[in-house]
Amino acid sequence: MVSLIVKRRLFYMFAALALVALISNIVVFSGLSSDSIKDQLGDIKDQLGDIRIPGRPKKPWHAGEKPDSPLEPVDAHPISLLMQEADKNWRKYEDGRSTSFKQTVKTYRRRHGRHPPPGFKEWYKYARKRNVHNIDDFEQIMDDIRPFWAVEPKVIRKLAANMWRNTDEGVACIHIRNHEVVKESNGSWRSETLRTLINKFIKYLPDMDIAINRLDQPRVVVPWEDMQDLLKKEQETRRTPPETIDEFSTTMEGLLNMTNEDDGGPLEDPQWYSHAGKQYMEVASTACPPESPARRDGVSAQEAELAYKDRLGGLITNFNKTSDLCAVGPQIQDKHGLLYSSSSLMATKRLVPIFGECKVNVNSDILFPANMYYKHDARYDYDDKSDLNWEDKKDVMIWRGVTSGGTQVADNWQRMHRQRLVMQTNGTEMAGKEVRILTEQPEKKGEFENYREFHPSRFAEQHTDVGFTETWGCIPDCSFYDSVWTLRPMVPMAEQFENKVLVDVDGHSFSGRWIAFLESKSLPIKATIFREWHDSRLFAWRHFVPMDNRYDDVYTLLTYFLGVGTPPDQRTLGSDDANGKAYVARHDTEGKRIADQGREWAKKVLRRDDIEIYMFRLLLEYGRIIDDNRDRIGYSGDGSELDKYDGVSPLDQGPHR
Ligand SMILES: *[C@@H]1O[C@H](CO)[C@@H](O)[C@H](O)[C@H]1NC(C)=O
Ligand SMILES: *[C@@H]1O[C@H](CO)[C@@H](O)[C@H](O)[C@H]1NC(C)=O
Ligand SMILES: *[C@@H]1O[C@H](CO)[C@@H](O)[C@H](O)[C@H]1NC(C)=O
Ligand SMILES: *[C@@H]1O[C@H](CO)[C@@H](O)[C@H](O)[C@H]1NC(C)=O
Repeated sequence: MVSLIVKRRLFYMFAALALVALISNIVVFSGLSSDSIKDQLGDIKDQLGDIRIPGRPKKPWHAGEKPDSPLEPVDAHPISLLMQEADKNWRKYEDGRSTSFKQTVKTYRRRHGRHPPPGFKEWYKYARKRNVHNIDDFEQIMDDIRPFWAVEPKVIRKLAANMWRNTDEGVACIHIRNHEVVKESNGSWRSETLRTLINKFIKYLPDMDIAINRLDQPRVVVPWEDMQDLLKKEQETRRTPPETIDEFSTTMEGLLNMTNEDDGGPLEDPQWYSHAGKQYMEVASTACPPESPARRDGVSAQEAELAYKDRLGGLITNFNKTSDLCAVGPQIQDKHGLLYSSSSLMATKRLVPIFGECKVNVNSDILFPANMYYKHDARYDYDDKSDLNWEDKKDVMIWRGVTSGGTQVADNWQRMHRQRLVMQTNGTEMAGKEVRILTEQPEKKGEFENYREFHPSRFAEQHTDVGFTETWGCIPDCSFYDSVWTLRPMVPMAEQFENKVLVDVDGHSFSGRWIAFLESKSLPIKATIFREWHDSRLFAWRHFVPMDNRYDDVYTLLTYFLGVGTPPDQRTLGSDDANGKAYVARHDTEGKRIADQGREWAKKVLRRDDIEIYMFRLLLEYGRIIDDNRDRIGYSGDGSELDKYDGVSPLDQGPHR
């Protein structure tokens, strides 16, 4: 009896399996016939059965598994391994989050050696109500504010209140008095947007003047030695006194006098100087440690690369380092518009409080979420309705833009980043040229080696759609481009999503499309020298694909995700295409996985809510640093008054909610 039931069960199980196999075959075949390139290649996951991965006995990860199960690499390609590494790091980040106010306060004190600022409890509730994902991850704010502990509050206030006065210096200012924005000085759409944002939580903010960068380019570069002194002073002022006042002070001399703007005594000099059109590394290197490549002569490219690139394929192993000008500045200083010849640049060596939407790693501007991400702008907003499913997208990397980045003249444009990208992905331009990719080793399936004779021309024609829509920003005019580019039609963002791969590079400053790219169902590739508010939340190789600012890895990346060539054992005699020896299986599943992960993640940590939460917290920290009593104000409690709010029972203070 029992055995009969077992047999019957087995029969049904096999029948079901057969059905599944049949359906998946139909899906696979119909998928293949729709695309001739896929025809030749097939996906790596179809070939899994016989790939041996050195030192990895476990069954490789594939599409059928739950997306939140730990990633097992599909083969020994460095990208497969980098994805696994990113997966691990991200899991650690997920596990370490505070789940109650009590924990949050404790974490704050442990990390910063201070009490949280006044208003912290209100901020906490505001953040929780909006489903903040990681209540502890505001390190960027703390890093940006830290050196100001070494500057007198009154001096910070005076600088912030008055830097807008000389309109040539590109500074706007928002003045908050009595929980209202009472004025914008030298405002623009940027400060307008910011005002809307601040109004959401202005009732918790003290009086303050907020100076905002009106230029695209970042501003403050404090020499390394000076910064060391400032940071040392900050460390010496850390303390957590048992009694504090949990309120901001009310009278503060040095804010802009709103009844008489000229009644304020002598001004502080922000010491701006212009460095437009010149090499940025001349300025930037002063902020680097003396032993760094930026301040040492004769560091070779190979030596610099060891810190952030894989020997195989030149893949990025440390995305932070790709934008660390102290480490890589000398390698990219004549390969990027801002670094080579920025169109406007108003810098200072003095630590002044200026809020900016992006900066490079040597800058001390105070980062805040770019207004473009908060404002609703059809050019930069993601719209789900116009996106396609991964399977329906083309195997193409797309990019469109104008020739921004720096001031261009007839003999310098080759040194601008966008121009280099368009050149490097132009099939005609690349005819006869060779680049490095990784190819599967002929004798060892699933293992890869450098292959430096890859002819990318045909591959570029099939798989890239990159071009300028307009020339712009040239001196005396852009006619020298006439014989260089074929302008391509503008492609609205929604239509760009018809392609699997979206590449995102800088313009004059950061790229405002970035969040939309992450939100989309396409796979975003990113190269940038800029830092933004959200960087610590994004994990390269889990949420997006990182690329070197020289773009020397672009074909390694594309051939991995899109595949190229014929497996060695299937080559026919006389198949003598230029790339006869190159073979990389198509890693479509991996591409989709990163695209999906980035999309899910953006919906959790890059929402408009997250921008509000970030800005609220930033302005509390800023409100304290400009307060004359900054050493004595703050929240000194243990956080238990929100136990009930957090749903923590007094008997169970463990990490769950
Ligand atoms: C801001 O400064 C610019 C010059 O940079 C000037 O043309 C403009 O009128 C100023 N706007 C306001 C609102 O003061
Ligand atoms: C602002 O200026 C007015 C007029 O000059 C002066 O009476 C007042 O005391 C000033 N307010 C502050 C806070 O300095
Ligand atoms: C690609 O390069 C060729 C040859 O240099 C040039 O004529 C063409 O305009 C370029 N295409 C684009 C899209 O810029
Ligand atoms: C990269 O920088 C972020 C801050 O922006 C930091 O949280 C993270 O730990 C850094 N990652 C590495 C690998 O250095």
